[in-house]
Amino acid sequence: MRKVTLGLVGGGTVGGGVYQAIKKNGALMGSRLGVQLTIAKIAVRKLKKARAVKMPASILTSNWRDVVDDPAIEVVVELMGGVKLAREVVRAALENGKSVVTANKALLAAHGEELFQIAGKYGVNLYYEASVAGGIPIIKVLREALIGNRISSIYGILNGTCNYILTRMSREPIEFNAVLKQAQELGYAEAEPSLDVDGFDAAHKTGILASLAYGFWVDQHDVHVEGIRGLSRLDIGFADQLGYVIKLLGVIKQDPEKPRRSGQGFQPIQASVYPALIPKSHVLANINGVFNAVFVRGDIVGDTLYCGHGAGQDATASAVLSDIGDAALDLKWETSNRIPPFVPHERSGAVRPMDEVVSRYYVRLNVMDKPGVFARISAILADAGIGISSIIQPEGHGGRVVPVILMIYDAANKRMGDALKTIAKLDAVKGKPVMIRVEQFDPNE
Ligand code: NAP
Ligand code: HSE
Repeated sequence: MRKVTLGLVGGGTVGGGVYQAIKKNGALMGSRLGVQLTIAKIAVRKLKKARAVKMPASILTSNWRDVVDDPAIEVVVELMGGVKLAREVVRAALENGKSVVTANKALLAAHGEELFQIAGKYGVNLYYEASVAGGIPIIKVLREALIGNRISSIYGILNGTCNYILTRMSREPIEFNAVLKQAQELGYAEAEPSLDVDGFDAAHKTGILASLAYGFWVDQHDVHVEGIRGLSRLDIGFADQLGYVIKLLGVIKQDPEKPRRSGQGFQPIQASVYPALIPKSHVLANINGVFNAVFVRGDIVGDTLYCGHGAGQDATASAVLSDIGDAALDLKWETSNRIPPFVPHERSGAVRPMDEVVSRYYVRLNVMDKPGVFARISAILADAGIGISSIIQPEGHGGRVVPVILMIYDAANKRMGDALKTIAKLDAVKGKPVMIRVEQFDPNE
């Protein structure tokens, strides 16, 4: 059997999970692939640290160079997180002719294009299944299984921590910070929790999926990002009354008919992350807790759904093992070109600015309950060409401040934002209006 020697940089939640999983199933995996897998070294920051997963001291090192520069190690598995040093580690490994497996979406979002070029130059591969949606093999789905489709839309619940927080907040009278702490204890959250709750982690993943689906590397700064920090239990409650749940969604869309109709070539895509109201009847509304799900619409396959644990030690380790399997097969077959992890093929690819993206909206205003107020609000919306599809105002608060909920038809984001700024200036409107987009998963999109 072909021997394949691995080195890990990072032995924390995911690294510990990979070590454990290889110990448990490495022989089975090896017999399926016809290779023999061995972990030769694991680099960590602190050698003397109590670890939930015990790893032999003989293979631990505190110097990542011991992994990357070891001629016996053929595949480097980067599980340290962060961007600056991780980039150095991955570059050094690729330049040393080693394939790399990474779970690091922040690294790929910032430097993916450069790293794929380096991998190509040195005839090795850079695999990244664990970087998006934890244990769900969505990278392989887009890279291999749906290769014959044009993708018209992808909707993803891509952050386990946020989905866990929103699920708990919708079911229990529990505060945001308390649930976040539990997600951290469960090993779901990033070292810097702002990456999760402010939407950046989901944006990194959205950019990776968009790049793979549309064939150009999406600049992370072009992905519009809003997180869940500002969401209140009040809005979760009103959404519930209206027949919706609120989820943090990665939204990637393109109208595949337009290029053909207009002959304009590539139609810019929407690539964004925001909390959205989704109908309770939609399958994504029922994805709860740490589960992630990715809903992909292809022009040939139609609608498909992929669901599983989006974070955590074992689920993520499973995805890393899948990549280790691919890297091992490359070595066994002495090729790096079976199905390359990312192939750029769309020269004129572009992301549509969020201002131009058309959405539907839920709006909550706090207004003085007195005659004429609603007439002024609806006049501002009408002047902007924005239609209201429904209104809710609790009864019986004459002269007091009451919440008013407006459901708004399709409007461009800039137009809607400008109208809300004007509405917020009215004397009778108190505080900042709340605006949350609504996704209906229209079959014609
Ligand atoms: P973690 O628990 O903080 O583990 C990081 C590991 O890297 C630790 O073992 C740490 O050493 C080591 N490390 C840090 N700096 C190092 C350095 N300079 N040299 C050598 N080792 C160093 O993080 P994690 O949750 O496993 O996440 C790792 C990566 O996987 C991140 O990119 C993350 O985004 C990604 N990911 C995580 C999950 C998840 O559910 N946790 C899911 C998907 C993807 P010490 O142990 O000595 O501190
Ligand atoms: N912090 C991430 C999440 C880990 O909660 O989804 C998985 O990428």
